[in-house]
Amino acid sequence: MRTRVGIVGAGPAGLMLSHLLHLQGIDSVIIEIRSRDYVEKRVRAGVLEHGAVDLINDVGLGRRMQREGMPHHGIYLRFEGETHRIDFEQLTGRGILVYGQQEVVKDLIAARLDAGGQILFEAADVELEDITGAAPAIRFRHNGEQQRLQCDLIAGCDGFHGISRPSIPAELLRVHEHTFPFGWLGILAEAAPSSDELIYASHDRGFALHSMRSPGIVRNYLQCAPDEDIGEWPDDRIWEELQTRMQTHEGFRLNEGRILEKGVTPMRGFVAEPMQYGKLYLAGDSAHIVPPTGAKGMNLALKDVKILADAMCTFYTDGSDEKLQDYTRRCVLGVWRAQHFSWWMTSMLHRFDQHDDYQRRLQLSQLRYVTTSEAAARSLAENYVGMLWDL
Ligand code: APR
Ligand code: PHB
Repeated sequence: MRTRVGIVGAGPAGLMLSHLLHLQGIDSVIIEIRSRDYVEKRVRAGVLEHGAVDLINDVGLGRRMQREGMPHHGIYLRFEGETHRIDFEQLTGRGILVYGQQEVVKDLIAARLDAGGQILFEAADVELEDITGAAPAIRFRHNGEQQRLQCDLIAGCDGFHGISRPSIPAELLRVHEHTFPFGWLGILAEAAPSSDELIYASHDRGFALHSMRSPGIVRNYLQCAPDEDIGEWPDDRIWEELQTRMQTHEGFRLNEGRILEKGVTPMRGFVAEPMQYGKLYLAGDSAHIVPPTGAKGMNLALKDVKILADAMCTFYTDGSDEKLQDYTRRCVLGVWRAQHFSWWMTSMLHRFDQHDDYQRRLQLSQLRYVTTSEAAARSLAENYVGMLWDL
């Protein structure tokens, strides 16, 4: 088998890259270890920055997103029983769109397959070969047969646990990592949203977030231990803890309903640099992950592949690899801005140590400042709606 660009992973990064290349007449093949059904049902992030929305619209994939996505013009910060709104529209002139990552993935898969694109699901034993040589290739097993996909360039879009990043010699990779001492217990439930916009709550018992997916489905999160045993959390306990952390002086109640899914995710920040080696280019979670508090993960993945597709197109049209050489440099500014913002939001909203009253007072002072100073609110708003899409 042969293609121009071999792509490992059918998440938002790999799929969008394949679509962007297709629009420029460049063929690619995606190799994915999971099934189509699994990839389309995996519950992940849900917030699109305006730049991501523009990208999806510009590449002709916005129809369902515009119909079903929920435009939000701000968020609520809740602490000490009070609710404060950060008005993104007023502060930045921009908003965000709440639209599930798996919906973006479904739209992208449908578009690739409709256009005759190749996505090989349920591949096994994926390995990269000759990354720095003249004949780079992806080796894998598919339908019981050993395959070798020869390509000019390889895109490693296989997430944090994939094989692309470890294919780069460890001594050439600088890894920057921070592990937070907590995780998020997330649920998807059948209930009407209890708010018109997301609520980020910082409570003495820990952080909680109220988010949504549609007029009938909510997504809520609770700060928990990084290795929390989900078995210890029957549905009633989850709702009770959410109600406690979300409470206000006005007697706010979250709408409850049947829990469709629950799980625990650890929280970490991680950046590997450079994002390239020989003919291999990393994009999305394979190169960096952020704690979810700033809602940046999917946006960063899409931003990387916008930059990568542009560089690959220049390589094929002008024969110049100058932009490919510059790929890491163009990505990392945005990557580190997102790392900092996610770390900052996480640090402001979560309880680090139940006994550290000094730190709690600092957090509350920071929250008070962000919700009373226009300059501080604008800084949050600017970062949340997203910047650095036009590098
Ligand atoms: N070979 C092929 N595919 C692989 C391999 C492998 N060895 N390992 C993992 N994959 C696949 C995964 O099954 C997944 O479908 O690569 C894909 C990676 O997709 P994502 O994890 O969604 O990563 P990315 O496209 O970078 O999108 C980042 O996902 O985790 C969220 O918060 C994150 O929103 C962000 C987004
Ligand atoms: C989500 O809806 O899954 C979500 C929203 C905002 C976040 C993180 C996750 O900050």
